[in-house]
Amino acid sequence: MATEMVTLRPATAADAEALADLVVQLYHSEVPRGLRGPRDGQVRLFRYLIEHELLAGVRGRFLAVDAADSPIGSASVRLWGDQLLTSLPPRVLSVATRSLGIADTLRLFGTTLRSALVAETPLRRDECFVYSVVVTEPERGRGVGAAIMEQIEDYARQAGARTALLRVIIGNARARHLYLKLGYHVVSRTPLWADLVGMPSELLRKDLG
Ligand SMILES: CC(C)(COP(=O)(O)OP(=O)(O)OC[C@H]1O[C@@H](n2cnc3c(N)ncnc32)[C@H](O)[C@@H]1OP(=O)(O)O)[C@@H](O)C(=O)NCCC(=O)NCCS
Repeated sequence: MATEMVTLRPATAADAEALADLVVQLYHSEVPRGLRGPRDGQVRLFRYLIEHELLAGVRGRFLAVDAADSPIGSASVRLWGDQLLTSLPPRVLSVATRSLGIADTLRLFGTTLRSALVAETPLRRDECFVYSVVVTEPERGRGVGAAIMEQIEDYARQAGARTALLRVIIGNARARHLYLKLGYHVVSRTPLWADLVGMPSELLRKDLG
């Protein structure tokens, strides 16, 4: 795909279904055993969570579309001072168990806890944190990821960020390759205990100029 055909735009509640499908794909790539249960139930649950996030006014989630306005990817960025989501939507447990079943809800809860063991990356005034970068499976390896990253960095730069940070799970060779190619460098790795109980990752950083 010609990457100039990729447009990254701020997500709205109308994009929740497309975003949920992309987040499910992200989970399946990054933590393959962390999200199970019926596929339509997985999408339903994430749609519910994303709608809550967007309606709560949390900003920074973007949808990438192609020339025909079809969703092909997503990425999120947190800027210094951005509001964090502090509450879960009402009845989330019941939505989760109805969507996934009890066993797979507990599995997802465990996955979420493991990733939460790595503390939220604190930001300085001129920093931003990029996360949830995903390209829909058929479009991967054609430059869409690079185009999304360039556009989200532009957004952050225009909002005053001078440095971008992100985390990549150890073993995610494709994402790591992409970020290093785009000028990120590794600044730290989670401690060894994270290999046993958490999700080991590297923190990467790029000077946005
Ligand atoms: C990571 C991801 C966003 C990259 O998007 P993409 O559109 O595939 O990325 P691009 O096509 O711009 O670039 C991919 C690069 O990785 C390379 N690559 C592909 N598979 C690879 C592998 N197994 N190991 C190393 N590099 C690999 C490609 O050759 C390309 O590099 P090149 O341009 O130097 O040839 C996408 O693959 C994805 O959604 N993966 C699943 C979700 C995910 O892991 N997200 C990242 C979370 S940190």
